[in-house]
Amino acid sequence: MDLLPVVFRFLHIISAVTLVGGVLAWVFGFLPALTALSAEVRQKVENAAAAAWRPLVLSSILGLLVSGTWNFTTNFLHREGLQPAWHPVFGVKILLALHVFGVALLATKPGNTKRTRQLTGVAVSGVVIVLLSALLRFLSK
Ligand code: HEM
Repeated sequence: MDLLPVVFRFLHIISAVTLVGGVLAWVFGFLPALTALSAEVRQKVENAAAAAWRPLVLSSILGLLVSGTWNFTTNFLHREGLQPAWHPVFGVKILLALHVFGVALLATKPGNTKRTRQLTGVAVSGVVIVLLSALLRFLSK
């Protein structure tokens, strides 16, 4: 068995789970729990959580870029027989991934007052990316 595809597949999936799962937990778990706090305390807690979370966001972006680029260049760049819809669906996925990467990084900056709205958008894009990735798998069979 070739180990490299397993390693890169693991890296892609663990990074996707960490990034999208982290955003969903933030929007649907952490934020509702903070509404009972005063605005000042809330800001402090949010900024501390964002600073602690930022290294995970950075490492999952790196993991997705490295594993996704390896997978794309090794398995798809010269592949024949992909269904025609694969290419546009992959293009939309990459555009949404750029949105997720950029805005997740912005949102974890200290003192960001637009964090809630930004992470809500990232949560929507993240879920759509996972849906498109599920679709891609069947378009490439
Ligand atoms: C937020 C960003 C991303 C998420 C959540 C994500 C998620 C996923 C998931 C869940 C899969 C299916 C894994 C499997 O069945 O083994 C997948 C497949 C894939 N991903 Fe990503 N991904 C992201 C970004 C990227 C990027 C930036 C690239 C390229 C540079 C990429 C390239 C690929 C490729 C080529 C596949 C295989 C598609 C196929 O089976 O036809 N992904 N991705």
